[in-house]
Amino acid sequence: MDQKPLKVPDQKEFDLFAANRGFEKVFNSSYSKAYALFSFALSDYLRNIKTDLKVLDIGCGDGWTAEFISNFAKGRYLGIDSSEESIRKMLKRIPASSGLKVTGVMESAEWMVNPKSVKQIEKLLEGKPDLIICNAACHQIRKSYPDLRKMFASSSSILKQEGTLMVGDYYFPEDMTDEEVEDDMKWIKTETGQTPTPRSGFIKRNDMEHLLESSGFISDTAREIRANRDINLIFYLFVSRKTFSQTKTSLPLS
Ligand SMILES: C[S@@+](CC[C@H](N)C(=O)[O-])C[C@H]1O[C@@H](n2cnc3c(N)ncnc32)[C@H](O)[C@@H]1O
Repeated sequence: MDQKPLKVPDQKEFDLFAANRGFEKVFNSSYSKAYALFSFALSDYLRNIKTDLKVLDIGCGDGWTAEFISNFAKGRYLGIDSSEESIRKMLKRIPASSGLKVTGVMESAEWMVNPKSVKQIEKLLEGKPDLIICNAACHQIRKSYPDLRKMFASSSSILKQEGTLMVGDYYFPEDMTDEEVEDDMKWIKTETGQTPTPRSGFIKRNDMEHLLESSGFISDTAREIRANRDINLIFYLFVSRKTFSQTKTSLPLS
């Protein structure tokens, strides 16, 4: 694997968060309602799946999601993240004795659009994923890799035909004034220590819906909630599945 340094220096912050306070302290507690919605939807999905689950997590962070899944299901989990420290921490925190075998790839999401990587993903997971997650990561990923359509199109080709894609992310809705956005950004800087993403850096809910549709997904549910009670930043969550495969839709009508 060729590991290229990311062009965006802000992203080094994630190494520091992983090495110091850990992502839960920075994100899960600061955006408590967002993570409550995500956990609720994920546990709802996992309730019916106990064994041999295969999960691909894009922008996986330092292992909170892997640990959460390991409490419910057995199988294989592969996390991709550009933060070396996060991958290191994730691999340490899930014991080898866990029923969930966790692997991590320290790469930008761009890595997964390469056909060789697709093969490697299937090898590491011992098959195609049942579930692909990309939570709270698209607005970060696009800072160094803007072609999210390619990332999701690749996800659609990798995912099992009957598989599930869960995509959660944040945005400042259009009815917020620039001053209100400014206030939220100040709150984020003070409370989390993170460099806040400007309004234009997020993908609005409608745009995400179109992005997913154009990448080969249809959404069964789309929910949204304020990230927490102190700010107006919104978190949305799409639970999607693949649209019919090309071969099915292109069959001639008789
Ligand atoms: C806000 S954190 C979310 C982490 C985790 N998904 C969660 O739900 O807590 C965003 C993550 O995206 C990762 N990231 C940023 N740019 C990336 C890229 N180009 N490719 C892969 N991961 C990236 C960061 O390192 C960080 O771990």
